[in-house]
Amino acid sequence: MGTEHEENEPTKGDDPSQQDAVSIADVSVEVATVDHTLQKLRRMYRKTRRKPKGLQRLWVRLLNIPHLAVIIAAVVFVVVVIMWSLLWVFIFRRESNSGVYFAGMFRVANVEFIPEYRQAESLEFVSMANKIQHVVSNVYKMSSVARLYKQAVISDLSNNNKGGVLVHFWMVFVVPRLKSTAVCEECVGAIFKDSVHTSMKNRSSVGYLLGLPVDIDSILINAVQRSDYSSNGAGSQCVDKLYANLPGTSVPLNVFSSWGVTCHVKLTAVPGSLIRLTVSSFLIEPSDCVNDALTVYDALLPMRGRILHRLCEPVSTSFSLVSTSNVMLLSFRMTNGNKVFRGHFEAIAEEICLSQIETQLKPDISGQIYSPFYPSLSPPQCACTWKFKTPGRNLGVALHFQNYVLKPKNLKACDQGWWRINEIIFCGNYVGHQTTFRISDHSPEVEFRCSSRNSAQPFQASYSSYNISQPCPESHFLCSTGLCVEKSRRCDGLDDCQDESDEVFCSRPTKNCGGKSPLHPLFVCNGESDCNNGRDEINCTQETTCSAIRYQCNSGSCILKKNAKCDGVYDCRDRSDEADCVCGHPSVVKKVVSPKGQERIVGGDNSVEGEWPWQVSLHFSGNLYCGASVLSSDWLISAAHCFSKQRLSDPRFWSAHLGMLTQGSAKHVAEIQRIVVHEYYNAYTFDYDIALLQLKKPWPPSLNPLVQPVCLPPTSHTVTQSHRCWVTGWGYRSEDDKVLPSVLQKAEVSIMSQTECKKSYGPVSPRMLCAGVSSGERDACRGDSGGPLTCQAPGGGRWFLIGIVSWGAGCGRPNLPGVYTRVNKFTSWIYSHIS
Ligand code: ARG
Repeated sequence: MGTEHEENEPTKGDDPSQQDAVSIADVSVEVATVDHTLQKLRRMYRKTRRKPKGLQRLWVRLLNIPHLAVIIAAVVFVVVVIMWSLLWVFIFRRESNSGVYFAGMFRVANVEFIPEYRQAESLEFVSMANKIQHVVSNVYKMSSVARLYKQAVISDLSNNNKGGVLVHFWMVFVVPRLKSTAVCEECVGAIFKDSVHTSMKNRSSVGYLLGLPVDIDSILINAVQRSDYSSNGAGSQCVDKLYANLPGTSVPLNVFSSWGVTCHVKLTAVPGSLIRLTVSSFLIEPSDCVNDALTVYDALLPMRGRILHRLCEPVSTSFSLVSTSNVMLLSFRMTNGNKVFRGHFEAIAEEICLSQIETQLKPDISGQIYSPFYPSLSPPQCACTWKFKTPGRNLGVALHFQNYVLKPKNLKACDQGWWRINEIIFCGNYVGHQTTFRISDHSPEVEFRCSSRNSAQPFQASYSSYNISQPCPESHFLCSTGLCVEKSRRCDGLDDCQDESDEVFCSRPTKNCGGKSPLHPLFVCNGESDCNNGRDEINCTQETTCSAIRYQCNSGSCILKKNAKCDGVYDCRDRSDEADCVCGHPSVVKKVVSPKGQERIVGGDNSVEGEWPWQVSLHFSGNLYCGASVLSSDWLISAAHCFSKQRLSDPRFWSAHLGMLTQGSAKHVAEIQRIVVHEYYNAYTFDYDIALLQLKKPWPPSLNPLVQPVCLPPTSHTVTQSHRCWVTGWGYRSEDDKVLPSVLQKAEVSIMSQTECKKSYGPVSPRMLCAGVSSGERDACRGDSGGPLTCQAPGGGRWFLIGIVSWGAGCGRPNLPGVYTRVNKFTSWIYSHIS
């Protein structure tokens, strides 16, 4: 370092101020003395001789390490600046002008359709398309978005049920990022409609754009993805067009793929007809529409507002659906692997659904009414009217539905069917049981309208007359489902009404242990000695007629023993009751007695490792959102409400943490392949609050016993006094808690009767179950949803999943228990999906 100092020390001759001083001196003493001149020359000579030395020094200085770093940095900086500018000019600037794509349709009225329009290569098509293209371009070039408008491409001209030509077109705008709101979907649609509107004459809905008659009511413009345009638009490799020109003849549709493809099939039928598409089978990998999907549109372009149906699950039983006009588009997205679609389509006549019906005197079933196009799914905007007449003023009309219920309309919109019955509005809803709806009028007019924007499930109802003053026959009880059941069935422990209305507000059943009369069915073979003489628990494995409270063996025969499954005893002759019993058997790794009152679910304790091996923590976008339970090596069970909103239903955002005691220390984190939400889940009432999750890959068997399935209760399973039931989860420990516990919490709760539950909450469905303690101090809370309520059979038996955390008023409030999904009501639904 010392040398540096020396080098830097300016020598006298180097000092510029001194140099100046010398030259001034030179002038003044130039002619003074020779000596002086010689001295000066010598000094100048010295100066010139030093120059190369200075350069050398400059090099040395430049090559000195810290200087070198500065220079390299400067050079790198300059290069980066240049490159960045080039990138910005040539790539980013171009990209920040992005393409915005639209698909649209409208009807050109008063123009005769000619078959040549069907061929995009024909001269007729080209000339018509050019004309329309010019008109569309003109509209946008005269508008506020003129500078952003790029082009319109006419994709299809088809004949139309309303006459004229139906035009489908694409539109592209090139928009700087910052201005992207200028071409919003509504704005682009409004520009087109406005220009038609201003040119409308008389009272008709047709306006003239450069002489082209456009029907304003037919205009629909939707924003689409660039990929929709590139896969479906001009030049795409995989677009097929099929035409059904004779009503009733079916055109086969078979699509095979083993490579990942996006393909479109455009269907058109003779004008005046509709298209019925029948799907016979569809072999794909289920993935909640993430990978494989078929989307059916009520148009010839993939327009969001015109989706009839989406298929993301494999189909093995055939079904059909109907369009609202004579066009339909099938958009297939299939990933690698052998994917097969089989089906056909046909042109069918438009249907006017209006009928006059006379019912018979006898209250037997007189006939059937059907949703439009039954058994096909009904198209949007469908409608039907039935005018009934009964044989007498004292006779009303009863409608018996298989899986549908009518309720008076409230503030919420009807989304599963809209009904007007003698001027009163009702909403329809799909449910999992039968109902009867009675109209106390002898000549009612019943109007039905589809209210969903997509295809709707079909329904069927039988009708009959009924006596208005006495709806049910003598000795029968009127259920709130409208069904009539024999009075003797009230309070018999069986849900005869299908909504348990015959089983509430029953006095505690008497056991009849001594008497001759039969024992109350609830006490028979429930695994608990209710009678001192043991009468209630004998001959429990004898085969008998089947009902919901009897255990059904694989062979189909039933036994009286309710909790026969996996109890360690062979009860069925085929021994099926002890098959598949690797479940609900935790082996706690180490016992820890947790100090009371430290940590709680609400009023709970810390669990220990391996205590609840079926417990799963479900994370949405990386954060705890719900609980779940392990059912098998690749299926979990949880609550539907965890997945009910748009983003929440995408399996890619979820992960399942298995074998975990403390948050963040899962033994296994699994990705989710698909989420199956119960089809009757009702987001307002939380009815049918159940969902299944399939894992992308099964969890490794080596995780057992820290990861293990819980046992699934058979429909007949009953929880008795001697069962012990616990709710577990990582949810909040009190209603206004702000931090989630890190250790899995557990709290023992008791199952309440449905009557008690209804005292707290009013209407709770038969698919709900209340559990808690009357003080309320032990409960589930936010974050526990979807998690398990498990009960252990007396005598250290296996643990069964009895409930799924669903809802509650607050958390841990007195007399407001937690409400759980009653799992044994869903046993066959669950098996139908997981096996
Ligand atoms: N719905 C809640 C959740 O999303 C669960 C509420 C349970 N409440 C109760 N008091 N038991 O986590």
